[in-house]
Amino acid sequence: MERTLAIIKPDAVAAGVIGEVIRRIEGEGLTVAAMRLARLSERETEGFYYVHRQRPFFGSLVKFMTSGPCVLLVLRGTDAVVRWRNLMGSTDPSKAEPGTLRSLFGTNIERNAVHGSDSEDSASFEVNYFFKGTEIVG
Ligand code: CMP
Repeated sequence: MERTLAIIKPDAVAAGVIGEVIRRIEGEGLTVAAMRLARLSERETEGFYYVHRQRPFFGSLVKFMTSGPCVLLVLRGTDAVVRWRNLMGSTDPSKAEPGTLRSLFGTNIERNAVHGSDSEDSASFEVNYFFKGTEIVG
């Protein structure tokens, strides 16, 4: 069993597809182990995306992620990290496989609807960044 962090980003929340994203998560056989609607602060977002701090898109990414509420989730299941990434599709929605969440709901490489941890190590960091152990069920 693995855990991974998922974020339904402000663009997808504004588009009214929270339910659809969760339906796809559950349809894939992944379990929601924790969930919270949050309006991220700049500081929280900068800490979360720390590894990208030198990238040219960092400032714009922080602005986007703090522009409205998002949904933070911990997903649990066998190979949860890679299965959630497969469901999301490629970072750039124009390159994402048809039917994936980013292909369906993403607008461009920044406004790409959903986030997922890219490895077991980053999943551990990201889950703990947003959730206390007592908030994670199962
Ligand atoms: P995410 O999977 O949340 O991880 C980092 C985020 O940075 C990514 O999704 C996009 O929202 C954003 N991002 C990645 N690459 C670029 C890029 N080349 N230009 C703009 N934003 C990007």
